[in-house]
Amino acid sequence: MMSPLQRALLIFGIGAAILAAGLAIALWTLSPGGPMDQVGAASIGGDFTLVDQNGKTRRAEDFRGKLMLIYFGYTYCPDVCPTELQTMAEAVDRLGKKGEEVQPIFITVDPERDTPDQLRLYAESFHPRLVALTGTKEQVAAAARAFKVYYAKRPQEGGEYLMDHSSFVFLMGRDGRYLMHFVPGTPPERMAEAIEKRL
Ligand code: NI
Repeated sequence: MMSPLQRALLIFGIGAAILAAGLAIALWTLSPGGPMDQVGAASIGGDFTLVDQNGKTRRAEDFRGKLMLIYFGYTYCPDVCPTELQTMAEAVDRLGKKGEEVQPIFITVDPERDTPDQLRLYAESFHPRLVALTGTKEQVAAAARAFKVYYAKRPQEGGEYLMDHSSFVFLMGRDGRYLMHFVPGTPPERMAEAIEKRL
């Protein structure tokens, strides 16, 4: 027979064990590399087949072995795109020699106007190693879908238009898988620090 004290201690012990196990499972589930992280990671990125500023077909797998720093935008963008591309270029340069292991990539969401020729001049003004990609409407749509990038045409007066688009910078690993993303306005030094940790 157990005394009331022994019984209370036993119940308390079992309760504490259940609580600890639950906590451990929760921490593991939410930890980097844990199941929740895997779900998030698996859903961003993937293959794309596009054309670069020199007219050459480029696929995501062409960049295996390097980290990819990817931004979706368009060359006629009045402000946000140039700022983000400038930040990417500066972040890569801040890494010095190691920055060569990072491939900065710009993917247009406006293939109608952003031809390879248009992209060549634009890319040059940001970084000598920036790969700028365009393609058919379908190819661009597929790439944007893979990265969960939203974009839409916003007509202006006189037949012109702007493109609304989400503005995250994605960092992909050497195996092409999603590592992290940067929100608009991230300072270049912060971006460089975060990339360096993943190199
Ligand atoms: Ni833009």
